[in-house]
Amino acid sequence: MRTLVLIARTLVCLLVLAPLAACARPDEPLPFGARSQDCATCHVDQAEAFSGSAHARSDASPVLAALIPRATARWGAAAGNFCARCHTPSHAAMTGDPDAEVTITCVTCHAAIGNRGERDGLLLVDPSAPLGGPFDDPEPTPAHASRAAPLVASSSLCGTCHEVTGPSVFVEATLSEHRVSVSDPSDPSCASCHLPRLEDGPIALGAEASRQRRDHRFVGIDPPWGASAEQRTDAARESAALVARALALELTVADGEALVRVTNVGARHAVPTGVSFLRDVWIDVELVAADGASEHLPRVITLGDQPMRAGEPVALITDADAVERHRLDAGQSAEVRVEVPPGAHVIATLRARAFRADVLDALELGSRADEVPVLEVARLEE
Ligand code: HEC
Ligand code: HEC
Ligand code: HEC
Ligand code: HEC
Ligand code: HEC
Repeated sequence: MRTLVLIARTLVCLLVLAPLAACARPDEPLPFGARSQDCATCHVDQAEAFSGSAHARSDASPVLAALIPRATARWGAAAGNFCARCHTPSHAAMTGDPDAEVTITCVTCHAAIGNRGERDGLLLVDPSAPLGGPFDDPEPTPAHASRAAPLVASSSLCGTCHEVTGPSVFVEATLSEHRVSVSDPSDPSCASCHLPRLEDGPIALGAEASRQRRDHRFVGIDPPWGASAEQRTDAARESAALVARALALELTVADGEALVRVTNVGARHAVPTGVSFLRDVWIDVELVAADGASEHLPRVITLGDQPMRAGEPVALITDADAVERHRLDAGQSAEVRVEVPPGAHVIATLRARAFRADVLDALELGSRADEVPVLEVARLEE
């Protein structure tokens, strides 16, 4: 019903009132609403892509839900509430709509006007300001005023949430990892890699200009919790392709020895980045003898930070007092040599999983483990 009303309003404004001041200069901010479904009335493609993204389901992770009470128990109520800043920022509700979504949404980025620091979700959002985007010559729309906003395309916007400095050992360092890996202004920003360019075209229903458009799916490695089997298969394929862009696997066999090497060639931050203390990236080697007998050497290399307590590994970051860093910085390699019996051939497989099995077990999420696929990223045979 609401959608019908909105469509009717859109048509009236687009067809009838567009030239009139009443529509062109709204006297209320975002008269069509601030939810992503309101933006979807006109920005159909962006909204369709965005709806399947990790940003659109930033409150949906059972791992998040299980960690919040543990963070509260370990570090106090402020730590538990802190998670909400980025996972349920509720920017669409700032216009007073009680039914607005609580997740990250269109206005989170397009109504951002600055930050109080490039970290910890200290983003300033003002849905009554003109919406920011890449263009300095936007066509007028009754739905919102527009402005060119360099902030939206900047790594600073992304980094305000993709840099977490606590509580305690709960640290995510994507922005600072990115900053040390870029040396001049022509280096790629977060958006240039994570919102790849699409074919030019109109950016809104009824808009005339053909413009540069970007992919709003925000492909990552977090699984689409609660999605259908088909959506999960598609997401797993996209995630594996993303990790394959970051990590180059090499295998060389000589003199009875195999050299297995993995290099972060494609990400301008460490891999795994962000919640690295949950992630699992590893290489398995298989030696197949001439008679077909095979020997498995699991995890000759493992990446993903290891939470520690009193010097011993623990599953959960909320139990840890230190974190052992196992990340590959941009350009960095890890390698291992493996003895190869005469005549055997070698198979090296690079795999990744959004969450380590011991994390899911410790959070009693074993029953949802099949929603967290093991991604086969690369496989080489010598
Ligand atoms: C009634 C239709 C309509 C609705 C609803 C609408 N927009 Fe727009 N939007 C447009 C039109 C038309 C343009 C300008 C197109 C052009 O210049 O090519 C535009 C431009 C934009 C731009 C580019 C601005 C720039 O200067 O670079 C952004 C970003 C944007 N809209 C975001 C949003 C968001 C976020 C929402 C929801 C809060 C929203 N829009 C709702 C029609 C709409
Ligand atoms: C040169 C391209 C490039 C740039 C620039 C870049 N990334 Fe990435 N990013 C990648 C690739 C490739 C991956 C897949 C590897 C991985 O999973 O870490 C990735 C993975 C990610 C992931 C999810 C996977 C994980 O490890 O948790 C997030 C979140 C992310 N990037 C955010 C950012 C942010 C924020 C910035 C800017 C501060 C940024 N990226 C800059 C290429 C890039
Ligand atoms: C996490 C931040 C973020 C969110 C959330 C987001 N966008 Fe964007 N959006 C961007 C960036 C970055 C660009 C590209 C800026 C550039 O090209 O300089 C962009 C570009 C756009 C453009 C210009 C045309 C195009 O397709 O590139 C429109 C329109 C737009 N977004 C609308 C939306 C709508 C509608 C939503 C919600 C359904 C949304 N955006 C959610 C960051 C975001
Ligand atoms: C308001 C805070 C916020 C902003 C701003 C933001 N992000 Fe995110 N982003 C998050 C959160 C929180 C998640 C994790 C959501 C989840 O999976 O529960 C996330 C997830 C992602 C993922 C997917 C990670 C995965 O492993 O699946 C990518 C990629 C990403 N963001 C890139 C970006 C880029 C690029 C920008 C800037 C254009 C940006 N983000 C801006 C908070 C933010
Ligand atoms: C400053 C912003 C910010 C805050 C605050 C924050 N996170 Fe996140 N969170 C992110 C981003 C960004 C990602 C995506 C990281 C990546 O993929 O590398 C993420 C991803 C996650 C994930 C993986 C989500 C999935 O899809 O399963 C979990 C779990 C998580 N965070 C838990 C927490 C908990 C618990 C807290 C509070 C103690 C918290 N986060 C506070 C930004 C934040």
